[in-house]
Amino acid sequence: MIKVSLISLGCAKNLVDSEIMIGHLHAAGMTVVPEADQADVVIVNTCSFIDSSKEESIGHILEVHQDRGMKKRRQHQKLIVAGCMSQRFSKDLKSELHDEVDAFIGLDQVTKVAPIIREILAKDRAADDAPPVFIEGRSTYIPDYDTPRFRLTPRHFAYIKIAEGCNHPCTFCIIPQIRGRHRSRTVESVVAEARQLVREGVKEINLISQDTTFFGMDTWDQRPNPRTPVDSSRGTALTTLLRQLNAIEGDFWIRLLYTHPAHWSDELIRTIAECPKVARYIDIPLQHISDHMLGLMQRETSSAYIRDLMQRIRAGIPGIAIRTTFIVGFPGETEADVDELCDFIRETKFERLGVFRYSQEEGTRAAKMDGQIPKKTKEARWHRVMKLQKEIAAQVSATFTGRTIKVLVEEPGVARGEADAPDIDGRVYLPITVPIGEFAHVRITGHEDYDLLALPAGDAPATRKVAKQAQ
Ligand code: F3S
Repeated sequence: MIKVSLISLGCAKNLVDSEIMIGHLHAAGMTVVPEADQADVVIVNTCSFIDSSKEESIGHILEVHQDRGMKKRRQHQKLIVAGCMSQRFSKDLKSELHDEVDAFIGLDQVTKVAPIIREILAKDRAADDAPPVFIEGRSTYIPDYDTPRFRLTPRHFAYIKIAEGCNHPCTFCIIPQIRGRHRSRTVESVVAEARQLVREGVKEINLISQDTTFFGMDTWDQRPNPRTPVDSSRGTALTTLLRQLNAIEGDFWIRLLYTHPAHWSDELIRTIAECPKVARYIDIPLQHISDHMLGLMQRETSSAYIRDLMQRIRAGIPGIAIRTTFIVGFPGETEADVDELCDFIRETKFERLGVFRYSQEEGTRAAKMDGQIPKKTKEARWHRVMKLQKEIAAQVSATFTGRTIKVLVEEPGVARGEADAPDIDGRVYLPITVPIGEFAHVRITGHEDYDLLALPAGDAPATRKVAKQAQ
């Protein structure tokens, strides 16, 4: 029996691709093993969002190659590179990683991975031959509800990829060139998958894509003009989807991730407010607030539009937690732009906020812009914004003290609240007796910057106790 090991890097979208590959490997009768040491084939599912993700991907490839060189058992082991870095750079990498890699596959090959493995195992490559590249042009694939998939997330939460690709022109981003044009699944397909997940005991469904608010708009007769925000009163496929998901029986959360500000509407705000299963949490990467920066970034929104949208969301969905991300150090950014950003953060008091230092990415328009910012200045701006947010986060956390909130228990003594998405947000520390994978209602007794405590007075979080004992 063929044994395969898979290393999944990058974001949740890539994780779903890994899950689909494993689903297809199982369906083809192959065994998936956790240790690369035991495998006939190792797949590295890569990310290439920024330089550091590419370096991490290359690092894993080199490590697998080096390890197999050291063990006799692994002499014939094959190494396949999949995912975003492979899709984008396989032409260059096939000569750079000539000795290390046995095949490159892209995003559309996730369902064809088993026959590709059989093919490369069947014949040894001559030393002079370049590794084969199984990538056919631009990515067009999109999974369906019945696509074989083996979930890699804990039993209680799952991701559903509702669309793939991106039509936005953001000048700093390489992802549209990797993942292709936006294509949505149907509402029926997503609902069928969600029903199945709820039947399997999933308590939180995270809806993901490059831009979840664009869901279904790629099928409109008249495509939305990105420079004109959508008709605010109009229902969209996303609002239909949220209402249908909300109608599925069971106790679970629906979490909407990766929304783009340009496609929010009043109807979407109303829908979230009216659907109790949709978490009072939205993820809306804004990237900047100054018109100068939004223009250079080609974010298809303006400062006035974003400020108005934040107010409409806060007014329309009581108790909403807003998560956003900003980029500092984008080419041309001035101190005045950063001042404006800090003022906006102070006014809006985002419950959750991430800050990226701009990364000059090969193949993007921003990489060729004048006014690239020195590393030291980017660092200083990043620290300034993070310091500000740390203060705001502590104020936000303090408002929870004394309240009873619903949490989803992740591991012994650790849970997430409605305002905390998996992997990226804060935690709620609670007694280890609360069962894992279930909802619980806990009283918040205190906080530590980004995290909340739901513990008897004087008790420390269990994970910290364990760490201390191990020292
Ligand atoms: Fe995700 Fe990295 Fe690709 S962030 S979409 S795996 S480039």
